Amino acid sequence: MNKTVDAGKTLLIDGPASINFTSGYAEILGAPVKAPARIVVRDAKRVPIEVKKKAEFNVMLGEGAGAEEVEGSTIPQSWKSAAEKLLTTEEKPLTVMVIGKVDSGKSGFCTFLANMALRRKMKVAIVDGDLGQSDVGPPCSIGFGRITKPIKDLFDVSAENIYFTGVTTPSGVMDKIIDGLMRMKNEAREQTNADFLIVNTDGWVEDEEAVAYKLRLIEQINPNIVVGIQQQDELVPILNNVKIEKISIDTPAVVKQRDREKRKILRELGYKKYLKDAKVLAFPLNWIRIQGVPLGAGAPPRKQQMAKIQELLGLTPLHCEETANAILLVLGAMQWIHRDRIKAIEENLGKKVQVMREGDEEGLLVSLHDADEHFLGIGILHGIDYRRKTMKVFTPVKGKVAAVNVGQIKLDKSCKELGINPITTTI
Ligand SMILES: Nc1ncnc2c1ncn2[C@@H]1O[C@H](COP(=O)(O)OP(=O)(O)OP(=O)(O)O)[C@@H](O)[C@H]1O
Ligand SMILES: [Mg+2]
Repeated sequence: MNKTVDAGKTLLIDGPASINFTSGYAEILGAPVKAPARIVVRDAKRVPIEVKKKAEFNVMLGEGAGAEEVEGSTIPQSWKSAAEKLLTTEEKPLTVMVIGKVDSGKSGFCTFLANMALRRKMKVAIVDGDLGQSDVGPPCSIGFGRITKPIKDLFDVSAENIYFTGVTTPSGVMDKIIDGLMRMKNEAREQTNADFLIVNTDGWVEDEEAVAYKLRLIEQINPNIVVGIQQQDELVPILNNVKIEKISIDTPAVVKQRDREKRKILRELGYKKYLKDAKVLAFPLNWIRIQGVPLGAGAPPRKQQMAKIQELLGLTPLHCEETANAILLVLGAMQWIHRDRIKAIEENLGKKVQVMREGDEEGLLVSLHDADEHFLGIGILHGIDYRRKTMKVFTPVKGKVAAVNVGQIKLDKSCKELGINPITTTI
């Protein structure tokens, strides 16, 4: 479909779509786009093409996609004034933290702000603390990267390092997420030397626990300014209690809402992108450090202790490890034990017992790291062979793997999320 759009109007494209921009001049969230150019819009995403000089487009729409022309700019005035204020602040380096609920326009505002900062020749970097809808790095991670040229989408920023969280929301694992975000922020500061650092956050803001979490996060990250994007007054409980400088801006009227299913689709695209060209690799268990599950943390129990465990259990577990205060039992697929037997071990040996079952790990999302803890990539755990003492991971990683961090999200072979699954149970 051919479209001619006059200067002063915005063409809103809902993906999946591919656009041939044949003549004219436009901007996408502050990034200049000159014809001829090709613009690809991912599924479940909306891209506002703000036409500055009469433009012609050839629009190819995929299933469920759409194109709509609206008057004027879809960038709220409050975004422009906030950017102006932030970019004329004397303080340097400046850290700006962006908060807002899901679909409030966080990623869009971060993109716009980065483009505005580039216009002022600033050194810009972003830390993407949104786990569920990560733009920088794979889903379930916190990544950071430099922004050296105008961007139409934060997704185009390549990550310099990534902290893998293995979950899609901070609920229940808040300390870990705060720790990860702090690490990435500090690394971003040191490595990029940016004078303008943007920190994006997850969209969990509305219940009491979320408010307390966001306030803690703000206190720890300690940005110079917090920007809250809100539609009504959903951020008031947070913003009213923030001790540092804050700015409240509006959610664009045309923001595209995405339901849970669409968010899952977006994440699945993310997993696929980071698993491209993956192969199954086998790692000997004693060559790698395993994180996220207690496996490998202990040593095999001594003979006498093992005999005691076998007696109390009434069977020989497939695998058993012991630390100073815990015992890990891995049961074979056909082994069953009553909880009373676990209790008996805990009482007799005075240690907490954790149980894993052979095969339960299959499909869990993992991250792979080198000896310096540097993120190498993600993978899907194919399985642990306790007899051969190997771990099989489906991953595109080629470097030397020293550690595998096991997450809680389970994926099927086509990267569809099957749910959250912590694989150890404490009885
Ligand atoms: N100013 C704008 N004009 C038009 N569309 C916009 C604008 N800002 C954002 N959008 C679109 O609206 C959708 C939601 O915005 P965005 O992704 O920025 O929100 P978010 O708060 O980051 O959401 P999430 O919680 O899913 O990460 C996106 O498809 C985005 O491209
Ligand atoms: Mg976002």
